[in-house]
Amino acid sequence: MDVIPTGRAAGAEITGVDLAGDLTPETLAAIEAAFDAHGVVFFRGQTITPIQQVAFTRHFGEIAFNVFGERWSVPGAPEIVVVSNVQENGEPVGLVRAGERWHSDMVYTATPPRGTMLHAIEVPELDGLPLGDTMFANAAAAWDALPAAMQQRLEDKVGIFDFLGRKRSIPVTEDEARRHPPVRHPIVRRHPRTGRRSLYIMRDDCTGIEGMESDEAAMLIEALAEHITRPEFIYRHCWRPGDVLLWDNCTVQHKAVIDYDLPLRRLMHRTTMGAAPTM
Ligand code: SIN
Repeated sequence: MDVIPTGRAAGAEITGVDLAGDLTPETLAAIEAAFDAHGVVFFRGQTITPIQQVAFTRHFGEIAFNVFGERWSVPGAPEIVVVSNVQENGEPVGLVRAGERWHSDMVYTATPPRGTMLHAIEVPELDGLPLGDTMFANAAAAWDALPAAMQQRLEDKVGIFDFLGRKRSIPVTEDEARRHPPVRHPIVRRHPRTGRRSLYIMRDDCTGIEGMESDEAAMLIEALAEHITRPEFIYRHCWRPGDVLLWDNCTVQHKAVIDYDLPLRRLMHRTTMGAAPTM
């Protein structure tokens, strides 16, 4: 197995591993170490079934269930959420336009997931040009790059994260809204495994900062959201069918690039790893 960093702000390709086969404890430990170090890791050319994807995800913690996944799971594998623009009989087969704005997954829960995995089944392509990339912003590198005065200002600050703060591509039901009241998280988050700090703040989901007037908080949220997504903190993943990619929801934020539409098809299988405490 080799770990080849992308040379960008995040991400490494792991080669020499067949995720359909049995993975030794040593290989799994090496994958976890690369995941902790790079925030995003990916394997090209994999052929795995939904069951194998679920089993691989479980190595990183129990499966977490996304609220929207309840509507678009794979038959026989309720742990998998279909993310897709494909339609059958005029109905979407999966979650459409998922993650089209910068975010970290499920910040609206008290214990957001450690990470998320996508398996690319179909990737849109226009005359050989691959579309539907995913962008990742390294929020730990963004924290490191802040001036000391700003780091001091942010230390110990707590953000309010509201499920209803973000305009979503599909309407939220009353029941979904009731099950997700606003939650609090430190906006300077310590990685539960490495201890590295990262900025845990984004537009829309983060609707306020405790002890701060709303105008001041809004300005700070905007400034930090812009800072995290500066070009120097970005890795942009160009998908190929058969890619399996994992991202760490503490280290990176991500955004799907929706630069395609039917008849170009994009079909991904998503699994979500269990909770990581926000410290
Ligand atoms: C997501 O945010 O879960 C989806 C990302 C993607 O489809 O690129």
